[in-house]
Amino acid sequence: MPHDTIVVLDYGSQTAQLIARRVRESGVYSELLPWSVSAERIKAINPKGIILSGGPNSVYEPGAPTLPGFVLELGVPILGICYGMQAITHALGGRVAASQAREYGPATLHTNASVSLWAGLPADLNVWMSHGDRIEAAPQGFVTLAHTSNSPIAAMGDLKRQIYGIQFHPEVTHTPRGTDFLANFAINICRCNPDWTPEIFVEESIARIREQVGEGRVLLGLSGGVDSSVVAALMHRAIGDRLISVFIDHGMLRKGEAQQVIDTFQQSMGLNLVAVNAVETFLDALDGVTDPEQKRRIIGELFVRTFEKEARRISSELGDIAFLAQGTIYPDVIESAAADRPDAHRIKSHHNVAGLPDDMQFDLVEPLRYLFKDEVRRVGEALGLPEAIVWRQPFPGPGLAVRCLGEITWERLERLRDADAIFTGELRDAEMLRGETSQAFAVLLPVQSVGVMGDHRTYAETVALRAVVTDDFMTADWAQLPPELLARVSARIVNEVEGVNRVVYDITTKPPATIEWE
Ligand code: XMP
Repeated sequence: MPHDTIVVLDYGSQTAQLIARRVRESGVYSELLPWSVSAERIKAINPKGIILSGGPNSVYEPGAPTLPGFVLELGVPILGICYGMQAITHALGGRVAASQAREYGPATLHTNASVSLWAGLPADLNVWMSHGDRIEAAPQGFVTLAHTSNSPIAAMGDLKRQIYGIQFHPEVTHTPRGTDFLANFAINICRCNPDWTPEIFVEESIARIREQVGEGRVLLGLSGGVDSSVVAALMHRAIGDRLISVFIDHGMLRKGEAQQVIDTFQQSMGLNLVAVNAVETFLDALDGVTDPEQKRRIIGELFVRTFEKEARRISSELGDIAFLAQGTIYPDVIESAAADRPDAHRIKSHHNVAGLPDDMQFDLVEPLRYLFKDEVRRVGEALGLPEAIVWRQPFPGPGLAVRCLGEITWERLERLRDADAIFTGELRDAEMLRGETSQAFAVLLPVQSVGVMGDHRTYAETVALRAVVTDDFMTADWAQLPPELLARVSARIVNEVEGVNRVVYDITTKPPATIEWE
């Protein structure tokens, strides 16, 4: 069942994805497409409204992106944000000029018209501005709907044609009522039905998966991370035992994690799960290796080989497997130019499960292709997955190998697992594992130092605690954890974990440091 859809055209803004996310938060389905998309593609979607994002250009620059003519001809409401507003102004004969002062940061928007765009919002709205150019003269037929101290025309509208422009960014969290504003546009003005809910998504995905797969079998690499877990639960509802999930325990998982994946998916949910214990193989391959890049390479390659071996074994037992399910999500699709290529669906599997041999080709099933990460979590909740899985913090593919600095031995991995469990357990008890920290973990350093315990001198290893706060994991701040909590964690680690006599807290931002230590 097609949903009422708002198309967001991307003019190159860093926050274009956020616009689609915020519109979806109001319950209206939204897709993000490049501004140069073909008229046919848009017409096939049959959107009920179009939003033009911001962008880095100036409309008078040669080659600057423009407002495609067919967008106006669709006859649906249009909202231009920042550059989008300028593109509308330029296309319809208004005047855009470089502002004397670049406006960046918080501003108060004074609304001066009673229109449904402002419904339920205060007359003075706290908004976030980020623009150089501004509107000097609105095109004919437009009225001013708001101003700021620096922008006389901070919002404008042609109420007859339902074309609007705003200078501020409703999509960023610094515009606190931004989602309500976008909901006004999508629901009041475009008349979209807010029917985009996780429950409906689950229902429709199940129908789509059944249609694609028919009576076929599907293989899935289940890591226990959020995306592959949600794919597993969804596919299982759709095709039951014809989903064969392969979970490879490489020994570098956190305390109790492998068992949790097996318990959740095999025992509670009854998935057809093949759990492979490959711990010894991985430890043998890593014997004596200390170089971070070499660790990553060895684990990556061995992982693919192990998956391949299982896939061949399962195929020889059950017959050919035609499909491979993957937890690709919308940001991956948007960022991958290849997504638009007609051959994008039957790609060589090694583009996705890196390194599978050419004779192993699968059709891909990617049920989360149109979901943002927070939507994946909500779908996971709707499917009844446990909170510990749905709200899991990110975990690197090579696992604890890149947190166990120096040589990797089973003994050192266990030491790290115990320290990590104490740290994350205390954070969980203090309700700081969700929201307060974006990622928190322990690192085991191959650094021995002298300590004293009772009457004894000790000479043992060091644990570093790392906890960061970040929105996008590209930059991060260290988390300012309460000293009492750090004290408790430190005391527990040196008392309870054999072989550790010192605990330090990492207070480095990213950049210059990375989040992981290797
Ligand atoms: P860094 O250490 O580069 O990490 O600041 C940024 C984020 O990426 C995660 N990370 C990985 N995730 N495979 C993954 O799936 C990897 O090899 C990998 N390395 C780092 C890291 O945990 C953090 O969230």
